[in-house]
Amino acid sequence: MREVNANLYVVGIIGGGYVGLPNAVYYAERGAEVVVFDTDESVVAGINSGISHIADVENEVLLKLVSAGRIRATQDFTQIANCQYIFIDVPTPLKHGEKQPSYVYIDMVASSLAEYLPKGKGVVVFLESTVAPGDTFRYLIHPLQEAGYKLDVDVYVCFFPERINPGGSFDFRRVSRVLGGSKLATRKASHFFSALKSSQELQQEITTVSSIETAELSKILENTYRYVNIALINEFAKVAQKIGVDITEAIDAAGTKPYGFQKFYPNIKIGGHCIPVDPFYLYNSMQELGIEMPLLKAASSVNDSMLNFGVEKIVDALDKPLKVANIALIGATYKKNIADVRESAAFVLKNRLQELGASVELFDPLIYPKTWKNDYTDFDLVVLLVGHTCVDIDELKSNSKLFVNLDFDLKK
Ligand SMILES: NC(=O)c1ccc[n+]([C@@H]2O[C@H](COP(=O)([O-])OP(=O)(O)OC[C@H]3O[C@@H](n4cnc5c(N)ncnc54)[C@H](O)[C@@H]3O)[C@@H](O)[C@H]2O)c1
Repeated sequence: MREVNANLYVVGIIGGGYVGLPNAVYYAERGAEVVVFDTDESVVAGINSGISHIADVENEVLLKLVSAGRIRATQDFTQIANCQYIFIDVPTPLKHGEKQPSYVYIDMVASSLAEYLPKGKGVVVFLESTVAPGDTFRYLIHPLQEAGYKLDVDVYVCFFPERINPGGSFDFRRVSRVLGGSKLATRKASHFFSALKSSQELQQEITTVSSIETAELSKILENTYRYVNIALINEFAKVAQKIGVDITEAIDAAGTKPYGFQKFYPNIKIGGHCIPVDPFYLYNSMQELGIEMPLLKAASSVNDSMLNFGVEKIVDALDKPLKVANIALIGATYKKNIADVRESAAFVLKNRLQELGASVELFDPLIYPKTWKNDYTDFDLVVLLVGHTCVDIDELKSNSKLFVNLDFDLKK
């Protein structure tokens, strides 16, 4: 095993994906020695070769840190014993095809910690994966206590929700954060953050809240706020369609108000790992407590109905029956300019159209660069789902027989 330099903080990042890898770079650039733990062999091999699988982390930056011994990745979880600070960045998805949370990855991490975390060292563990209120305790603290760890003695646990927006315009290193935990835990965490802060200019402002549950609820509130507001705007998209108004024009007009209105755009399916997922962590957890959330339930029903809205727009645009139509869908990702297809609209729309008899092909310059082309005139209809910046929309329109835009925030 590699020798650890005792003069540096040793930071463990469990899960080296969209959240974990940028965070590894963040702490490594601020003086820490970072060990990324990942169960995926290819992720580990890629990181150790200085090859980034995350668009927000440039190879050049990663390679420099790996070569300097600042970051290394491993599948050897015994090395958890060397870490003073541990960040957990594993997935919290929904069970396949259901709106039910899956804590399987957090369970695995809790088992690894219970096996390899040394007692008596006062390691600080930050859970950054999104969970429902009460679930840091249920799925992380409780198993550790069961394994004999004393909270705020052997181990300190904080909930430190992540706000990274892959491919977005905000530099996550400047995005403020919320930290929840016991007084002792947040104090220990703050010492660590201030030691890092002094080393670099780019830093995250951290607001400490009074409990883990407050931090958990704040994170789910952020994403449920978006989920419910997208549902509202989806409902308005249907209204606008019926009365012959361009919904995007109406939203942009409302958005000229300098206060009290935030712009959201309709979507035939909300994609990504957070917005369509996190509200259901809350929903299910509240159901267990007998608390109804009728607004969230209604939002879910409106959002789910949008696939049909998309199909109707396609049927209306065609000059022939759907079952004999040959359709090109453009954009496989869940949002623009990022090669991430998690929960994306494209695949469900493709399936639905095929079930209805259409012949459908999916194109995306970021996901399928080899099949990307300029001329789509051999298709009856081209449907734009995601307008990546690299796609010339005017050219696409002029190289299509018929064109439908389902990317409502194209002008954004
Ligand atoms: N992606 C985002 O934009 C974003 C933003 C804010 C919060 N989050 C939250 O952060 C968490 C992580 O999301 P992500 O997008 O980085 O996921 P991801 O799928 O990109 O990465 C997760 C990584 O964890 C690894 N992993 C799985 N189980 C493991 C285990 N037991 N031990 C070690 N590694 C393991 C996987 O191999 C993968 O490399 C989720 O809870 C998500 O909701 C994500």
